[in-house]
Amino acid sequence: ISEQSSAAHCSRTYAVGHRGAPEIAPENTIASLEAAADRGADWVETDVQFTKDGQPVIMHDATVDRMTDGTGRIDQLTAEEISKLTVKGGGHVPTLEQVLSSLKVRSARLLLEIKGPQSSAAVEYALRLVAESGMAERTLVQSFDEGVVRDAAASPHKMKVALLRSKLDPDPVATARKFSLSAYSVNFKGLSARPTAVDQLKAAGIEVFVWTVDRENEWQTATSWGVDGVITNRPDQFLQWRKSH
Ligand code: G3P
Ligand code: CA
Repeated sequence: ISEQSSAAHCSRTYAVGHRGAPEIAPENTIASLEAAADRGADWVETDVQFTKDGQPVIMHDATVDRMTDGTGRIDQLTAEEISKLTVKGGGHVPTLEQVLSSLKVRSARLLLEIKGPQSSAAVEYALRLVAESGMAERTLVQSFDEGVVRDAAASPHKMKVALLRSKLDPDPVATARKFSLSAYSVNFKGLSARPTAVDQLKAAGIEVFVWTVDRENEWQTATSWGVDGVITNRPDQFLQWRKSH
């Protein structure tokens, strides 16, 4: 019985492609995000930074150095300058609008991490672009930055919001209520300190995402805790694994 219920549970655990499918194409490029979506990921996770002229672009780091042929801080480069860079391994640095256009015609949902701190106006501008694209209902905005989370939760665009945590809060449900969260997005190791927090959050109507989980034994552990979503660099392998568990 326990095996059956575990299998039934696991088949519902969302596959979330971390920065797309970075083993297939360079992280956070359109090719990576589309690879995750087209191979069946339920969600695509991606990172937003803002250029010197206030445009949201898709990159994890605060600088372009690791991922491109350029150098410098994103907030010291214009959107035009960033558009001319080539990503190592192929592709370009997408704008948020390019990502929204791509996902709009696909079925995957968007787990949109906004790197902070950011001004309220910057957060509002990014959320407005999401709303104007028609993707608002399929988007969950997340951040480690409490200010970004507060701004996103208060936005007139009424998008769902998650807080990213490296460690569990003493009372995650209280934190979720304080920040009006739809979801709580926690590090695997952090959650392993007290996996029963998943049940408490779910009982309060809060979804739980765990990151960044790339190995089968960790997928097994995370799904046995009952998490709603597994954020992974290997979404297609997770989908394969999920089929048989
Ligand atoms: O979505 C979770 C994960 O992306 C948070 O960490 O550093 O990969 O953005 P990081
Ligand atoms: Ca991220």
